[in-house]
Amino acid sequence: MAEYVVGKIDDIPEGKGIAVEAGRRTIAIFRVAGKLYAIANRCPHKGASLCEGEVVCEDGIVRCPWHHWNWQLGDGKLETDPRQGLRTYPIAVDGDDVVITV
Ligand code: FES
Repeated sequence: MAEYVVGKIDDIPEGKGIAVEAGRRTIAIFRVAGKLYAIANRCPHKGASLCEGEVVCEDGIVRCPWHHWNWQLGDGKLETDPRQGLRTYPIAVDGDDVVITV
């Protein structure tokens, strides 16, 4: 396991996603109601970038921008079929740095 500083907390807009690089992985980071989430950026359906998806804040979901599959930010599961999931990553704030463990 390795830790990567992927940006500053102020770089992450509330209610939206951004993509960051951590080692060789591209990870989508979301800030929802002040809480941070980190999930694999690539939608396993057809490969859309989930950081460009719509965040449904009240449900803690990101909606894929291409075919609107809903992914749960907390555990990475597909809302309608929890057997399918995305990888999630531990994310923390250290000072004003955002740190992801991969
Ligand atoms: S690419 Fe994400 S739902 Fe199709």
